[in-house]
Amino acid sequence: MTQAARAPRVFSGIQPSGGLTLGNYLGALKRFVETQNEGVETLYCLVDLHAITVWQEPEALRHATRAMAAGFIAAGIDPQRSILFNQSQVSAHAELAWIFNCVARMGWLSRMTQFKDKAGKHRENASVGLFAYPSLMAADILAYHATHVPVGEDQKQHLELTREIAIKFNHDFGVDFFPLVEPVIEGTATRVMSLRDGTKKMSKSDPSDMTRINLTDDADTISLKIRKARTDPEPLPETAEGLEDRPEARNLVNIFAALSDRNVESVLADYAGRGFGEFKPALAELAVARLSPINAEMNRLLQDTAEIDRLLGWGAERADVIARPILERVYDIVGMVRSRPGRPV
Ligand code: AMP
Ligand code: TRP
Repeated sequence: MTQAARAPRVFSGIQPSGGLTLGNYLGALKRFVETQNEGVETLYCLVDLHAITVWQEPEALRHATRAMAAGFIAAGIDPQRSILFNQSQVSAHAELAWIFNCVARMGWLSRMTQFKDKAGKHRENASVGLFAYPSLMAADILAYHATHVPVGEDQKQHLELTREIAIKFNHDFGVDFFPLVEPVIEGTATRVMSLRDGTKKMSKSDPSDMTRINLTDDADTISLKIRKARTDPEPLPETAEGLEDRPEARNLVNIFAALSDRNVESVLADYAGRGFGEFKPALAELAVARLSPINAEMNRLLQDTAEIDRLLGWGAERADVIARPILERVYDIVGMVRSRPGRPV
């Protein structure tokens, strides 16, 4: 594989179901922006085809896709520098996924823990799409010959499957075509936990809205949620080790550190010995200062959905320019007759 010689191309996907949380922002978006600003080629895809592997209300899905695009742009993704688009507008994803459905084995997909979790006890009732989810994800990545894929720990198994699919495709057809992708697993440092239970991940799917901060929350809501966040009665410790058995306290300190681009030690140097009565208002002030400009910009962008749609369409066109020739090569390798355009004479 000649991967080392290739310029890096970063690809990541996020499902446009539900809104963006502080967890998405600190755990994913903020880094997506940093990577973009390093000058690396970046593609960020709102995976609407993945979203419908479980039921989505059509209007809610359309809104969530636009809101997420607005959130990305408001957080610093520049639609000129990054290729920002929604998956369904680039048909190469679905086309390559079909080919990968014929490469991947039932046994491989049956072992995916995300499928087991999402399908639950009623496997017979899960959509075929939910089962084939990882083939589509492999297609997302391999349609661009992406070199780096930043994802959370929970997506590691899907990335390993992407490698397996690439290896089997290359082997079955006797080619050295698909690169083996390196996962960029995000560290736990920016894992944001629920405001109500420091051992659970902050998630957009948690039934209680008080467990999370949404990028759409206004200043009062952010302050209220932080004020009501679960904590313990102890003052803050002097060292990070002192937070080890205090998941809620650790979470709030981690959030403070991430929002202020500092490390935990430096935050503790300021707040050691002080209680949450002092720390929470400071955190609320910081969170509001960091998030309200994003929130305001997101709301501004959402007033002009035609402009968001135009930007997504433009991203899709640029994505297509990369993916289409790769897909055409795949069809050729697999043995499909490709004779369009042209009409019989
Ligand atoms: P999800 O919202 O689960 O579809 O995840 C989208 C992206 O946000 C993935 O890269 C996740 O790793 C990241 N993410 C989601 N929730 C959190 C969280 N609580 N802390 C850190 N990163 C998160
Ligand atoms: N499965 C990913 C998640 O749930 C989203 C995703 C879809 C993705 N396609 C991708 C992530 C391609 C990285 C690369 O978070």
